[in-house]
Amino acid sequence: MNHLLPSEWSDRVAFDLAHVWHPFTQMKEHLEDPPVPVVGAEGVDLLLGDGRRVLDGISSWWCNLHGHGHPRILGALERQAAKLDHVMFAGFTHEPALELVARLRPRLPQAMTRCFFSDNGSTAVEIALKMAFQAQIQQGRASRVRFGALREGYHGDTLGAVGVGELDNWLTGVFRPLLLHCDRFAVPEDPRRELGGEATGTLETGRAGVKAFFEAHGETMAAFIAEPLVQGAGGMRFWAPELLQEIRLQCDRFGIYLILDEVMTGFGRTGSFLALDQCGVVPDFLCLSKGLTNGALPLSLTWTSDAVYQHFWGDYTEWKTFFHGHTYTANPLACAVACANLSLFDEEPVMARAHALAGAMREAWQGLAGHPAIRRARTLGCIAACQMVDPRTGQPHHVEERFGWKFHRRALDHGLLVRPMGDCLYLMPPLATPPARIQEAVETLVELLG
Ligand SMILES: Cc1ncc(COP(=O)(O)O)c(C=O)c1O
Repeated sequence: MNHLLPSEWSDRVAFDLAHVWHPFTQMKEHLEDPPVPVVGAEGVDLLLGDGRRVLDGISSWWCNLHGHGHPRILGALERQAAKLDHVMFAGFTHEPALELVARLRPRLPQAMTRCFFSDNGSTAVEIALKMAFQAQIQQGRASRVRFGALREGYHGDTLGAVGVGELDNWLTGVFRPLLLHCDRFAVPEDPRRELGGEATGTLETGRAGVKAFFEAHGETMAAFIAEPLVQGAGGMRFWAPELLQEIRLQCDRFGIYLILDEVMTGFGRTGSFLALDQCGVVPDFLCLSKGLTNGALPLSLTWTSDAVYQHFWGDYTEWKTFFHGHTYTANPLACAVACANLSLFDEEPVMARAHALAGAMREAWQGLAGHPAIRRARTLGCIAACQMVDPRTGQPHHVEERFGWKFHRRALDHGLLVRPMGDCLYLMPPLATPPARIQEAVETLVELLG
């Protein structure tokens, strides 16, 4: 039997379609538009199998910060691989994990003193949900069996994470019978982020909404979870830090843990190292992943406070232990890569670059703002978004048109990777993207929008 992979890319793609199931994909669509081979990456560009070079306009699913194949990241990986590739983390410890904690802790709110490792954003969230629930139970608060969350939220694809994400859509509705009990309310988007937007009365309405929600559900929630400043997968919805402050107040009032999911917003994306730095809010749990390793290896962290940790402290027979762990918990290679990532933040002007990029993105996005095929151009830090509409009607494109998907494919032909989410077209390039590339990318978008 021949086990060899075909040598031609056209045959390899056929092999892929015969055997592989891709994420977030209706595989039938690949009959017409097969998956695109990627054969390499250089800096902020991806190199495609047919020779095309495209700007990684969405940071390879929101991970990449310093560009691909960064020599400091690769060097750290190589050095660590020569020492220790993997060991179980139950009963053992190692230098890369400890160095990572030592490097990251000073950048977090002081109360975040305890770090639990896992390997993706969804598990970071699952861990926070389980810890929060167990901590409530171990304080004798047996009525705390529900969670609270924002509508349009997204926290990952494992069942716990799905249970606190937006439910009323076709992505997750089918799983409803299997999920955690969760109550939700909608926060308004922040008009101050819109180009040409005016601050209106949304803050007062928003605050009233927060208060009403906690009045109704405050006694039953173990924890409330939110993505600070930006609801990413919900459609790049930028929301006001003042409303997160109100949520914190209400959580304190009712004894509810606050979980901040910074899986996407962390590591400079929003213009500060963490989004919470702009909010003046300290959570009880903080979830980090994606940018943590510059996208080079899977890793995530769930941080919490000593106060929470103490609820798990006791004799073995008290059954207070947090019985949770993944095979790759604190994988040394991933930790070493994360340390290299943080050393770049320490030693290079990464945040200054991010600010320059954010300025360039806001300026370039102005050029898109009046286009008849888009509405609501808005930016926050190194994220720029808008809604695509049919210029003839001013309404969103019909879902059957698959406008976003086709737009994504056409953009690849023009040297740009973007992947609209429904009507939402956005750019979230690596922080190291030269501002001139943003101008080019926006010119491409204008051309493609017609
Ligand atoms: C805010 C947020 N939380 C959690 C996740 C899930 O992360 P992962 O895909 O690594 O499981 C994502 C992924 O996009 C996210 O944006």
